[in-house]
Amino acid sequence: MVEVEDLESQQVDRMETLTKTPISYKSAEEPRYKLIAENIVATYNGIEAVKNVSMKFRERAVTALIGPSGCGKTTFLRCLNRMHELSKGAKVVGKVLLDGQDLYSSREDAIIHRRKIGMVFQKPNPFPTMSIYDNVAAGLKLNGVRDKKIIDQIVQGCLEMVYLWDEVKHDLKKPGMSLSGGQQQRLCIARALAIQPEVLLMDEPASALDPIATQKIEEMINELKKEYTIIIVTHNMQQAVRISDYTGFMYLGDLVEFGETKQIFENPRNEITAKYVQGQFG
Ligand SMILES: Nc1ncnc2c1ncn2[C@@H]1O[C@H](COP(=O)(O)OP(=O)(O)OP(=O)(O)O)[C@@H](O)[C@H]1O
Ligand SMILES: [Mg+2]
Repeated sequence: MVEVEDLESQQVDRMETLTKTPISYKSAEEPRYKLIAENIVATYNGIEAVKNVSMKFRERAVTALIGPSGCGKTTFLRCLNRMHELSKGAKVVGKVLLDGQDLYSSREDAIIHRRKIGMVFQKPNPFPTMSIYDNVAAGLKLNGVRDKKIIDQIVQGCLEMVYLWDEVKHDLKKPGMSLSGGQQQRLCIARALAIQPEVLLMDEPASALDPIATQKIEEMINELKKEYTIIIVTHNMQQAVRISDYTGFMYLGDLVEFGETKQIFENPRNEITAKYVQGQFG
């Protein structure tokens, strides 16, 4: 069990680094794989939605998952933080290594993993009865952080990271649900960041948003990747090109092709990938 004081001081340290990191910051470290999925097979009532997918995710990079509706993108994403097993009749086999440790075989329970691997959903889902402030603070309180000053600091830091602070700093007590769709989505991202994940999974986070709100989310992802490993599902080809470093193309539950985003879009090796990225089917 992590000591509450340790968690508080780690969060303050990390928040300080994040909020003071200059925009031009570049990591001097070599890129490495933060998360590795090996031979993931995911089923619903015995029917395979993800067939045998292996993928490696670079640390501090954005990986996009693309592919037509029903090809298993969401299901695969939910295997990466052990959420798939929460669906009725759902099973998963294979390995997911976070910093080399298998999420599915380690002694730590699924709740700890879900804290390390945050998730943002397609539809913004603020806690309906909670204020803007409490939405961001909720996870901290659940994790035992009690110090009001520390919580204030983290709430502000996370709202700043998602570029929402200036828009809400005078309205922190208003319900989270009173915000616009794009603001609610940024609030949900701030909520996910508050509990200090290491990896951020995003399932079409901008699909319900207008172009301006979408642009804000994209700018934010570009900033967040300096600290986080981000995996994002998108149907928007231009978005994948704009924000991702690597792209995986899935089709009928398989990973058809994986590579640098530029290569996948400009010089795909597989015929089906080429047809998909050229918009010939969807
Ligand atoms: N809860 C569920 N129970 C049974 N089958 C499901 C469930 N969720 C998804 N499926 C099936 O699993 C397959 C993959 O679905 P998934 O939602 O992962 O696709 P997707 O690529 O995310 O699609 P979309 O782009 O439409 O979001 C589909 O055939 C779908 O019908
Ligand atoms: Mg989906």
